[in-house]
Amino acid sequence: MDINFDNLEEFKSEIDGASSIIELNDIKVKYFGKKGIVSSINKELGKLDVEKRKEIGERISKIRDKFDGQFDSRLSFIKKEEINATLKDEVIDVTLDGYPYKRGSIHPVNLIYQEVIDIFMSSGYEVVEGREIEDDYHNFEALNMPKSHPARDMQDTFYVDEDVVLRTHTSPVQIRIMEDRKPPIKMIAPGKVYRSDYDMTHLPMFHQIEGLVVDKGISFGDLKGALRLFISKMFGDDLDVRLRPSFFPFTEPSAEVDMGCVQCRGKGCRMCKGTGWLEIAGCGMVDPEVFKSVGIDPNIYSGFAFGMGIERIALLKYGIDDIRLLYGNSLKFLRQF
Ligand code: PHE
Repeated sequence: MDINFDNLEEFKSEIDGASSIIELNDIKVKYFGKKGIVSSINKELGKLDVEKRKEIGERISKIRDKFDGQFDSRLSFIKKEEINATLKDEVIDVTLDGYPYKRGSIHPVNLIYQEVIDIFMSSGYEVVEGREIEDDYHNFEALNMPKSHPARDMQDTFYVDEDVVLRTHTSPVQIRIMEDRKPPIKMIAPGKVYRSDYDMTHLPMFHQIEGLVVDKGISFGDLKGALRLFISKMFGDDLDVRLRPSFFPFTEPSAEVDMGCVQCRGKGCRMCKGTGWLEIAGCGMVDPEVFKSVGIDPNIYSGFAFGMGIERIALLKYGIDDIRLLYGNSLKFLRQF
């Protein structure tokens, strides 16, 4: 038998010439596959005598080791090349500009809401929260408005059921706080309130802020001072403030708070209908009946309370004449703030 081992060792240059894993595998098949050169040699081996067979067998096994070594080093070379090629192809330019995105802004009602809270906080008021779904007792009864009381008609109430309402004002928070604590109390309660109402100046949902101060010796003068301070911080210190006698079942005496018109600064214009005044809040001294229903002794303590609408403040501050614009969600409108 004539075996050309030099021919068999030609693979060295073939392996070095392979440029892909597929090509490399083809070479392996060519030499060591089922129908490869080495298999055909192996078939012939049976015809040889033992000594010769052993010698050739050893030579083939050495050749196989050599092949495997070269094969593996070429394989890792090709893999490295492939990785380098992908890294080059898929390179990302991190210096490119991104897509610009639109900036949001705070809603005008939230802007005013926060500003009002900040002003009162800076005067030492504590901020408390009540509940938007309130029972009849806290929303009306404890505020000196029994079931048959005509003052209930002042507010168009959303009823959840006979004894549960969407709170029509933030005043029930006064009751909840006074039930819980002993004076001194100095708090504000901002939040959503609900009334069945909808026109240029009314919405079924709006925000109020309630104020309550209870201690020994709190006077009507303290009430006016507190309101005057708020108005001067919110609208400027040139505006006059006046308290106009009014009625609320839970305060006695009660008053409407007027301030000088923000537009004409008190001279009289279209906004204030020529009067020079704008109504901004309701207020009064806590009614002794209310103190009794929360267990505070009206002979020892006195207090004042006020309540105002946040949206109304926003309308005055920004010179908007239709409250519905605030919740129309027109971006053209909202982007102005
Ligand atoms: N709760 C009253 C309203 O919504 C306002 C108010 C609050 C009046 C506190 C007096 C004292 O109309």
